[in-house]
Amino acid sequence: MSVNPQARRVLSGMRPTGPLHLGNYHGALRSWVELQYQYECFFFIADWHALTTGYEDTSALQDHIRAVLVDWLAAGLNPGVATLFIQSHVPEHAELHLLLSMMTPLGWLERVPTYKEQQAELRDRDLATYGFLGYPLLQSADILLYRADFVPVGEDQVAHVEVTRELARRFNHLYGREPQFEEKAERGVRSLGGRNSTLYRQLRRRFQEAGDTEALTRARALVQANNRITVADRERLLGFLEGSHLSILPEPQVLLTASPRVPGLDGRKMSKSYGNTIGLREDPDAVAQKLRAMKTDPARARRTDPGDPEKCPVWDLHKIYSDEATRRWVSEGCRSAGIGCLDCKKPLIDQIVEEVRAFRRRAQEFEDNPDLVRGIVAEGASKAREAAHQTLDEVRRAMHLRAD
Ligand code: TRP
Ligand code: SF4
Repeated sequence: MSVNPQARRVLSGMRPTGPLHLGNYHGALRSWVELQYQYECFFFIADWHALTTGYEDTSALQDHIRAVLVDWLAAGLNPGVATLFIQSHVPEHAELHLLLSMMTPLGWLERVPTYKEQQAELRDRDLATYGFLGYPLLQSADILLYRADFVPVGEDQVAHVEVTRELARRFNHLYGREPQFEEKAERGVRSLGGRNSTLYRQLRRRFQEAGDTEALTRARALVQANNRITVADRERLLGFLEGSHLSILPEPQVLLTASPRVPGLDGRKMSKSYGNTIGLREDPDAVAQKLRAMKTDPARARRTDPGDPEKCPVWDLHKIYSDEATRRWVSEGCRSAGIGCLDCKKPLIDQIVEEVRAFRRRAQEFEDNPDLVRGIVAEGASKAREAAHQTLDEVRRAMHLRAD
């Protein structure tokens, strides 16, 4: 199937909790860099989301935002093709969040697994706040504001996208009603023109009768790529695929990114909260030192003890960084005690140090030139606001917050 980048929009965000590490890179950022060339992409720094848990001390916020931005640019996000922006620079997120809050049942938010989990995990902070409960709602506003088709996120965020879908459905159900919807929709189908009308009908049937979501995606792309139809017809035709309402806020889909397990230095998942990370732009000598001290299979207490790569976090890094021949060498050498752990780590250290060096090199230009970064952020905000404004305009009208 041919992909029309205009018709397929991707949106994702990251909280600015500090400089990014290799876990962030392999877990998300690397796939974003690929996505930006396949879709129309919006990537933003969720500074308001950072406040939901970090409201007490915000003094480092600007430093963190800047660090993440430069990390993004160093990793290859390209402001020439993707829209990169900061959430709070687009106040439309707040307006949509407010409007959606009116129709969000409390139970939907209380039931989101991350709500209780995070409260338990961050026991030292008071998270019995309105803002924290609203975290998934703000995220829904982020997504729906851009009418994103796809949201690339990890497993832990799937529940939030699910809430987003429910909210979109509820919104469309409440405010997407219109008299004679079916007749108008039928007329809209005809206005797609000969072959496209037929294709639309076929795809709609495949979705409605067989639940074929691929057909739904294709039908949506077909509607969105058509620039001869009116905005009202587009909303009708999108809504008609699934039901009998206008689709003012389309339901997004999760784009599960096939991300490898990135182990931290202690063998647990690499995470800032465990203090076991390697920074994207950390000093190369420090990186090498950290890797030399990284945990290995505990069974290999001595050089002569054979080991098992499956029980070793270093092996997980080889799966990410090493070619097949190196991996075979590691696997055989480890099991036979033919190589020591430092031998095993050597090619890995070379690879990772080289990668970190490249990030640092690319970051330098932006570090030396704060105006360049400011310009990227300003342009991102203005592009994002333009898209956001269109959605909000329709939302306000649908809710009768405007006279016409
Ligand atoms: N909650 C996401 C995270 O912690 C960040 C985020 C905020 C986000 N808004 C979003 C992700 C919208 C995707 C879409 O990783
Ligand atoms: Fe891990 Fe490599 Fe040592 Fe085996 S040789 S235990 S894979 S570091």
